[in-house]
Amino acid sequence: MPTATEQLLKDHKMIRKILEGFHVDNPRFPEILKTLQRVVLGHAWFEDQFFMPAVKSRPLIFKPFWSEVSTEHEDIGGLLALLRKTEFKEKKTLQSRVITLRSLLETHFAKEEDVLFPLADQSMSRESLESLGAIMERRKEEVRDHLPR
Ligand SMILES: [Fe+2]
Ligand SMILES: [Fe+2]
Repeated sequence: MPTATEQLLKDHKMIRKILEGFHVDNPRFPEILKTLQRVVLGHAWFEDQFFMPAVKSRPLIFKPFWSEVSTEHEDIGGLLALLRKTEFKEKKTLQSRVITLRSLLETHFAKEEDVLFPLADQSMSRESLESLGAIMERRKEEVRDHLPR
């Protein structure tokens, strides 16, 4: 049974894969943007709803991360929404927002992968990480209700 952190890392891998084609000059840019938005928001929803509350109840070291991570999720979500509203003929604006989004995602993932997830793995038992993973797996369908169309 995969643990919660293993599942979240798998999402990061998927998001990085989507980002490979995420270039303004890609003719499929609009569809890729839509997919990226759904996958990123769905992933952040799982972290906010299940992962962070579980680690929050653990040692105090997690405390500073709690608001930092959710603020970054809001920033990333806001930028994705803004990108969806940006006209495709506004290439330069689009391009600069794409660059900002990439760097936001990169630093956010690095924080989670280098600090947050290893801390969770250290402070929680394999069993509790697996049961959290199972809860997330069962709630997969629900994520759709929290995504934009
Ligand atoms: Fe996150
Ligand atoms: Fe994440």
